[in-house]
Amino acid sequence: MFNTEIYRQRRSTLKSKVEKGIILLLGNDEVGMSYEANVYRFRQDSSFLYYTGIDAPSLAFVIDIDEDKEILFGNEATIDDIVWTGPTEALHVKAAKAGITEVKPYKEIESLLKDAVAKNRTVHFLPPYRGEHILKLHTWLGITPAEVAKNVSEKLIKSIVSMRSYKQPDEIMEMEKAVDISTKMHQLFLSSIRQEISELEIAGQIEGLAISLGGSIAYPVILTTNGETLHINPRNVLMKDGQLVLCDAGAETAMHYAGDITRTRPVSSMFSSVQKDMYNLILKIQLATIAACKPNVPFRDVHALAGEMLLEGLKGFGIVKGDVQEALVHNAHTLFFQCGLGHMIGLDVHDMENLGEEYVGYSDDIKRNMAFGWKSLRLAKPLERGFTLTVEPGIYFIPTLIDLWKSQNKLSDFINYTELEKFRNFGGIRIEDNILITEDAPYILGHTIAQKTVDEIEALA
Ligand code: GLY
Ligand code: MN
Ligand code: MN
Repeated sequence: MFNTEIYRQRRSTLKSKVEKGIILLLGNDEVGMSYEANVYRFRQDSSFLYYTGIDAPSLAFVIDIDEDKEILFGNEATIDDIVWTGPTEALHVKAAKAGITEVKPYKEIESLLKDAVAKNRTVHFLPPYRGEHILKLHTWLGITPAEVAKNVSEKLIKSIVSMRSYKQPDEIMEMEKAVDISTKMHQLFLSSIRQEISELEIAGQIEGLAISLGGSIAYPVILTTNGETLHINPRNVLMKDGQLVLCDAGAETAMHYAGDITRTRPVSSMFSSVQKDMYNLILKIQLATIAACKPNVPFRDVHALAGEMLLEGLKGFGIVKGDVQEALVHNAHTLFFQCGLGHMIGLDVHDMENLGEEYVGYSDDIKRNMAFGWKSLRLAKPLERGFTLTVEPGIYFIPTLIDLWKSQNKLSDFINYTELEKFRNFGGIRIEDNILITEDAPYILGHTIAQKTVDEIEALA
């Protein structure tokens, strides 16, 4: 936990932003994997953590702004609990560390909220992403499960986004820790790959490393020789010389801040000439787009810069032809780059995504473009000092997509489908780092960052 004053301050700011009514923050519950007592690793809700720091299941937190009260609802461990889990810190002690003085049994929240609803008071709550939260809101607030989504508090969402988006110094330190652990995971990846080893073997080792260093993974490890498939799971397939292997893996610290790093290397110890050229193109784009991340620059424009540089670079391979600016306007780059250049990162790897991407990554002036490729961009609005985000350009040769566009003769003024055919089994390359927006040049998070030039990778491989 951070020190008590940080949580007090955050709640005080939140209260002044929301102004009136009751704020309800739901903590997460344990979730059964295959039966009730066989649970997934517990993960607290990130907004609950942000305002209380309390990392334990089955809690709810209420801030009654009008009555100036803060109440943590939860149950102290019984002797039965202690028999199975050992002694744990008492709830009132946890609450005190967060500066919360009032703790009540969990069941009492129901009458408090029903009473508030009966008095027509506003209960502000966030969009739930777990089924049990929808059922609780249904029971406590007297709305049908289908109505829950329509009754979320835009005021609370906007207030929280306006706070969590700007990382405080203590948070930056935690994020550096997350990136440092992620870097160690990538160094293990970069130095372990060889032919005839399976994706699962290395994916398992780097996941284990994150756990052994005190945290966990921030999202399921992607480690694959089919790097063009954006969210593929590691498989029990053996790597072959000549292939590229992409690893997108990030650690979550014990305090649940995330790292999100990607590196790509050849299975062989050396890149082939064409792999090296393509890799250097993506690296050049990554360095240029990181450098472009400054306050007031819309990230949408940085994404467009990546698209433009990619098209320009692919002209050199003979895959793209014609005027690059015109090709960009027609979205020709989306045949090779179907996802966004980056996203906010913090307590969630896609930070605050459950609060609504429109609130986190867009603004009144910059609305989401629903065109293929663009619609996957999670962050488009102008960058501001204190934002932390990923920068992750890539190139993805997806055979099914190539075949589809080719069958439609789509954008054939800009795409040389005959040359492109030579790359249909190339796979994918992504290079991803995490940055902090500052007044000056962006700061790359992490005390050291994982090797990413061709020479550095070949030296480790
Ligand atoms: N690791 C998921 C992403 O890069 O967005
Ligand atoms: Mn990633
Ligand atoms: Mn990412």
